[in-house]
Amino acid sequence: MKVLDSLRDLLKLVRLSKPLLFLGVLFLISSAGVNLLIPKLVGDIFNTLESNFVLSDIHTLSFYLALVFLGRGLFTYGHTVCFGRLTVQSLTDLRQRVYGHAVKLPVFVFKKKNVSEITSRISADIQRLENFFNQVIPTLLSQSIVGIGALVMTFIISWKLAGIILIIFPLVLFLSGKLTNGIKGISSELQGDTARSNIIIQESLTDIYAVKSFTNEPFQVQKFKRMTNSVTKLGTRLILAESRYELINMITMGLLIVFMIWRSAVMISQGTLGQGDVIAFATYLLLVFGCFHTISKAIADVQKSVGSVESILELLGNKPEELEQTGNVDLSGSLRFENVNFSYPDNPKKFILKNINFEIPQGERWALVGSSGSGKSTIASLVLQFYQPTTGKVYFDDIEMTKLSLYNIRKNMAVVPQSSSLFTGTIRENIMYGRLDATEEEFQEVAIEASVDEFVKDLTDGYATEVGENGMRLSGGQRQRILLARAMLKNPKILILDEATSALDSETEMLVQVAIYLMTQKCTSLTIAHRLSTVKTADRILVMDQGEIIEQGTYEELMADDNSHFRHLNFLSLDTKES
Ligand SMILES: Nc1ncnc2c1ncn2[C@@H]1O[C@H](COP(=O)(O)OP(=O)(O)O)[C@@H](O)[C@H]1O
Ligand SMILES: [Mg+2]
Repeated sequence: MKVLDSLRDLLKLVRLSKPLLFLGVLFLISSAGVNLLIPKLVGDIFNTLESNFVLSDIHTLSFYLALVFLGRGLFTYGHTVCFGRLTVQSLTDLRQRVYGHAVKLPVFVFKKKNVSEITSRISADIQRLENFFNQVIPTLLSQSIVGIGALVMTFIISWKLAGIILIIFPLVLFLSGKLTNGIKGISSELQGDTARSNIIIQESLTDIYAVKSFTNEPFQVQKFKRMTNSVTKLGTRLILAESRYELINMITMGLLIVFMIWRSAVMISQGTLGQGDVIAFATYLLLVFGCFHTISKAIADVQKSVGSVESILELLGNKPEELEQTGNVDLSGSLRFENVNFSYPDNPKKFILKNINFEIPQGERWALVGSSGSGKSTIASLVLQFYQPTTGKVYFDDIEMTKLSLYNIRKNMAVVPQSSSLFTGTIRENIMYGRLDATEEEFQEVAIEASVDEFVKDLTDGYATEVGENGMRLSGGQRQRILLARAMLKNPKILILDEATSALDSETEMLVQVAIYLMTQKCTSLTIAHRLSTVKTADRILVMDQGEIIEQGTYEELMADDNSHFRHLNFLSLDTKES
């Protein structure tokens, strides 16, 4: 059964503390058992009234009853505490593990899936499981014990009366089975729509600049309205379906009770049933119904969590990158591409890189130019092993990349990406991110070299200044300089700058150029450039067009050829005119 499957999946998913679980279940069974004693004791008290009764019997039985209630309270307290703690612990553990898994996933998973979708799995989906653990599992356990126990007791008291239950039960089961299926369908639709409407909020507020600069506030509001209206519709349908389910349950149960009252009255008049027995029987029967009702509700709840469990499992099903830190070799920093062809996994037919060959000797400064979309950033992704070449090989120091551990490769490289934002936290934290164990001297050195110091001096909080979410409070150039400092701190063997100076104005660029120059003295570098100044001083320039390297040489060589593609690259001609 689907519900059982996802229950099993869920139990596989979480790690429960065994002693706590054992204790919780023990309390649960005890409280269920004690619960079962109540009707019997009440019935016995009233049964004593019929024969020539002894008053002290009533006293004793009532005392037992009081003890039973006391026990029930304590046991219930016990299992609530145990399951509560179990929930908090295991969900935190699950959240930590899912996040730990998510950050280790290869980059393409994040390109394929919406990041907010993954975020929602780590937060909302796991949150949804809370109720499941706290309520649903204990309920299912205790109610099945009480339900089955009470059913047995009804048969012990009067099998004739109880027999009828067995006839009615399958009917009720069938009906509720049909209805809960409907509920599940609507509820998963509802979950989907709710998630989508949340994405609208998140996206638009994150990039509120875009919304405002295009004066698209009304558009956003409409979009959100449409989505949330459908949430209302689905929510209403869900409530209707759930209420219908309750209605049918109540009516069938009511009819059954009437039948019981009628039959038992007849039996008492015939002397085949005691009055106390009727009280006990009726109470047990109510327990059976109550349990059945809560169990089916709990099953409906399980069905609501099925989606959450499945989506968490799906995320966990993605194979993480292997980031083990063993077997590291010292790398000096030459980089070679050999017959590399590459297509992205989501579009395997379209080759983004075609027959790429080059070798940057250790310590040289190379530049990579080409029109937008020609595949420059893709080369950077391959160097970092975010992706593997479809055919061909990439070598780091004459060692094929796949023979090195990812940790080894990435530890020795730094990339200042084309678009990147800062993390929430201080400027210092954002720079230290480059190497968490760097010393204060190293920190100061890179901060000055990358001209971060220059603008931080003017901030009241200095390096302790918080950068807002996505670094909103800094200018693009300031952000870029922090990212540069971060990369410098890493002290890499290979440095890749992906249009790292594109967000800078020409004055800051001068400063940063010096920083970059200093930095590229110490390592092998590939600068994806779109400014002449960077390209001019490079040891060699690769010119890309539509995934191929079509020209290469020094600046002078490339300029010497009147027909070179390089000469006609737009940005260069613009820059040349200016300078
Ligand atoms: N993650 C991706 N998945 C699929 N296609 C991509 C991805 N990233 C880039 N591309 C495609 O690869 C081509 C080259 O992109 P890119 O390397 O970013 O170019 P450049 O940096 O030279 O502007 C483009 O056509 C782009 O649409
Ligand atoms: Mg690019």
